[in-house]
Amino acid sequence: MTKIIAGNWKMNHGPRAAKAFIEKVKPLLGGSDDQILLFPPAVSLPAAVEAVGDAAISIGAQNVYFAPNGAFTGEISIPMLRELGVHYCLIGHSERRRIFGEDDGLLNQKLQAVLAAGLVPVFCIGEQLQEREEGRTMAVLSRQLQAGLRDVKGVESGRLIIAYEPVWAIGTGKTATAAEADETMGAIRPLLSSLGADASLPILYGGSAKPENAGALLRQRHIDGLLIGNASLEPESFAEMAHWREA
Ligand code: PGA
Repeated sequence: MTKIIAGNWKMNHGPRAAKAFIEKVKPLLGGSDDQILLFPPAVSLPAAVEAVGDAAISIGAQNVYFAPNGAFTGEISIPMLRELGVHYCLIGHSERRRIFGEDDGLLNQKLQAVLAAGLVPVFCIGEQLQEREEGRTMAVLSRQLQAGLRDVKGVESGRLIIAYEPVWAIGTGKTATAAEADETMGAIRPLLSSLGADASLPILYGGSAKPENAGALLRQRHIDGLLIGNASLEPESFAEMAHWREA
């Protein structure tokens, strides 16, 4: 089955570096049947789209605002992304939630606007370390999904991608074991059904995914792909992860 290999560059790689990365990674990705996605910073989106050309790499934004235009200093809109040929967008990454204070209500508005515009949202959910230790993981994920998917119709939800990223595993070098991640992700599907969403939508794992653990994670039944931060910044390591089947 095709998997999704997605790189979230966060606040790294300006336009020049984005172009250089893509030119270098294109030949390295040859032969991978998986779907490749890259999320550069907003200013690098035009350079990234141009550098991709007709290669099988999709470009997504890391964030977007829900209003189509107006007095929202510092924000970018969905029509702006569409104009660039950007079809994917991360929503609710834990850094947006934690550092920039984006709450469930705002994320729901973003999710609805992105879906309505025909773009594919990659909706990020995940528990903090303390929540996991207190046995509240599923309660937290359930709240995030319920609030995020409020008023999203079942049919629309079929275009959604979910990224499960335990916050304690992001950028820490601590990965959930493949079995741990699979167990939690397996429990997300019934949650989606109970919310009237399409339970077969792709669910990605994120949090210190790297070439050494990509294969073990991707061989799990409920892991449909990876959302990769640090290890997506170098073309070689990103490409190695896209070739996980050969490792
Ligand atoms: P990481 O980041 O791979 O550096 O842990 C993942 C993410 O935040 O999407």
